[in-house]
Amino acid sequence: MNDWMGEDESQEIHKGLEGIYFTESKICKVDGQGGRLYYRGYPIEALALKSSFEEVCYLLLYGKLPNKPELNNFISGMKGERSLPKEVINLIKETSGRAHAMDIARTAISILPAYDKNAYDASEEANMGKAVKLISKLASIVAAIGSSSRGRYTAPDNSLSHAENFLYMLTGKKPDKEKARLLDTMLILHAEHSSNASTFSSLVTGSTLADLYASVTAGMATLKGPLHGGADEAALKMMKEIGEPENTERYINEALNGKARIMGFGHRVYKTYDPRAKIIKAELELLQNDASKEVSNLTRIALTAEQLMVEKLGKTKGIWPNIDFFAGPVYTWIGIAPELFTPLFAASRVPGWCAHIIEYWRSNRLLRPLERYTGQVDLEYIEIEDRE
Ligand code: CMC
Repeated sequence: MNDWMGEDESQEIHKGLEGIYFTESKICKVDGQGGRLYYRGYPIEALALKSSFEEVCYLLLYGKLPNKPELNNFISGMKGERSLPKEVINLIKETSGRAHAMDIARTAISILPAYDKNAYDASEEANMGKAVKLISKLASIVAAIGSSSRGRYTAPDNSLSHAENFLYMLTGKKPDKEKARLLDTMLILHAEHSSNASTFSSLVTGSTLADLYASVTAGMATLKGPLHGGADEAALKMMKEIGEPENTERYINEALNGKARIMGFGHRVYKTYDPRAKIIKAELELLQNDASKEVSNLTRIALTAEQLMVEKLGKTKGIWPNIDFFAGPVYTWIGIAPELFTPLFAASRVPGWCAHIIEYWRSNRLLRPLERYTGQVDLEYIEIEDRE
């Protein structure tokens, strides 16, 4: 061991913390080799097919599927938290179009403690209440950001499910059942994914015993980047640049020859097809002949690009489509604008963040890794007048 000023140089550096376990969790299993995903032990395929976002939120937070009274009670709690303080609505109106929707959503979330009398109550019971508040209000915030482009805030409708209400607040119209069903599936698929970058970030903040709002705000800031939640918006941008399905092969070849990354492909953990992407792909295949030329074009481009990428990078380098690749055309069909994709991802992931933070607090330890110092020491301080 070469011990220099306390630096153990025999220790390997794990860039990007790749392959490092930092805690135990009972919330989510990502099987990156087998391409399987479980929330609290339940396969994602069964949840996407049979469950609802509300039920998945309960499952993630409480660790079990609810019975009917438990679910009804939980849904009532969620509905009771849908409305937004008028100052938050005004903030959204004032800033809409002047910053990315993700920045506005993150800012709106971080001011919510001002409207919660239990904001700094650190009991688990209070935190479960805050989690419900965050799940409901973030969806309303994202819908309000989207609807501000119409110049009108639509108040929530408690006769509707979470996904239906989101679309209602976004468009001001009663939602199409099929679009709401597909949105609900998308919410379920994005709800949780173990210690991904944004969840880790929220845990770092939570581990300092900052409150749940602060921790979720940190998660939102981290989700924004194109290597993480921002990939869906970037992937749709690429599909729009491709324009027509017949341009796809040339575009992908040029991009790969130029060593560009194709957003929506590759994953730190999945070295096979992301099971969530498979589920979305099956939904997308049904939209190839959609009446809207925009949707059918985007769908065909996405499916052609996926085939090419699987041939070129999947089978050779283990770079497969991830959840973000097919999301853009699906959201376009549902009627969601690209700049809402990442905030909507946040609105889906908030139960996962909250479940992890609450679980971590049960045996909290400050997250504080090391970096190896490779700079100089004991330099002589030179007065500014004497510097070159
Ligand atoms: N397109 C082309 N090449 C790629 C891609 C891609 N999307 N992703 C990885 N590679 C290549 C990369 O260039 C490198 O090649 P080489 O060995 O020749 O230098 C090799 O694969 C390994 O890449 P890496 O960056 O070391 O892999 P990683 O595990 O650190 O990266 C990733 C994971 C998600 C950051 C990366 O795959 C990526 O940048 N993907 C595009 C962004 C994206 O889709 N992000 C969403 C992830 S899933 C949803 C979420 O969690 O938010």
